[in-house]
Amino acid sequence: MLGRTLQRELAGHEIVVADLPEWDITKDDELVERMTSVSPDVVVHCAAMTKVDDCEAKRDLAFKLNEEGSRNVAMACKACGARLIAISTDYVFSGEPPREPWAWSETDIPRPRTVYGASKYAGEQMVQMIHPDDSVILRIAWLYGAGGPSFVHTMAKLGADASGAPLKVVDDQRGNPTSTKVVADVVKFLLTRPDVSGIVHGTCEDQATWYELTLELKRLLGDRFPRAVVPCTTDEFPRPAPRPRNSALKKSVLNVLGYRTPPWRAALADFVASEFGPTA
Ligand SMILES: NC(=O)c1ccc[n+]([C@@H]2O[C@H](COP(=O)([O-])OP(=O)(O)OC[C@H]3O[C@@H](n4cnc5c(N)ncnc54)[C@H](OP(=O)(O)O)[C@@H]3O)[C@@H](O)[C@H]2O)c1
Repeated sequence: MLGRTLQRELAGHEIVVADLPEWDITKDDELVERMTSVSPDVVVHCAAMTKVDDCEAKRDLAFKLNEEGSRNVAMACKACGARLIAISTDYVFSGEPPREPWAWSETDIPRPRTVYGASKYAGEQMVQMIHPDDSVILRIAWLYGAGGPSFVHTMAKLGADASGAPLKVVDDQRGNPTSTKVVADVVKFLLTRPDVSGIVHGTCEDQATWYELTLELKRLLGDRFPRAVVPCTTDEFPRPAPRPRNSALKKSVLNVLGYRTPPWRAALADFVASEFGPTA
């Protein structure tokens, strides 16, 4: 999903779309060979095992893709002298903030509680060990983008069913809903700053719960979202992987560099207009 938006938003650059089956991040030798033949200036590494609950059931595969895959991408970048922008996640944090209000900073120590989060954190560490001087770990969260699949697409579909019972949506998990377009803009900014390396948080500003996000989507879609929405707790929707209670990210590095991401409501309004048509 993110790769598709990057492809569109970076159209002014010379791009190589590196995707399965030709480009497999688990095949280390092949990856070095392919990357050397292309000789990129920058690699934006979006490939991952992203289904959080599946990762709990398939731990080995999650680490093979998210840890070893990222190691292989980092080694290939190092081998051909490419800068690496590696996409990571808010799930590296425990989601249990010491106090509220709270947002996790780039300097906070990750303590993942899921296999997905642990495997992505292991991938971050690989990148930082192998290619420390010319890599950025770009942490993003609560992503939606053209074509989906995403929470926003699911809710837009469920919300269209006027005859359905009120939609119950979790109201005790907080994060930063973020569009792939906003992430692409952060990537574009990072391309103008080759001097930046290390961890960068790149989500939208302001926090929301899933319920608040759904209410805003309902407002924007107007009569295309006739179904009622009611808040509920995490306990009412048990999942294999525990969800963070608060995984909002502080954009300390971007802000120091003078860059501000938009508030999530503005980014959502832009997205709804482009994906579903004019907003209400
Ligand atoms: N979605 C979110 O809410 C969210 C939040 C925080 C961070 N992120 C991170 O953002 C990045 C992009 O996520 P996304 O939402 O765009 O996920 P996505 O649509 O699932 O994209 C991941 C891509 O990786 C590909 N892939 C899987 N195994 C591969 C392999 N061995 N070699 C090469 N490619 C492989 C997948 O291909 P197949 O589809 O064919 O398997 C898929 O196209 C990921 O690093 C993810 O961890 C996402």
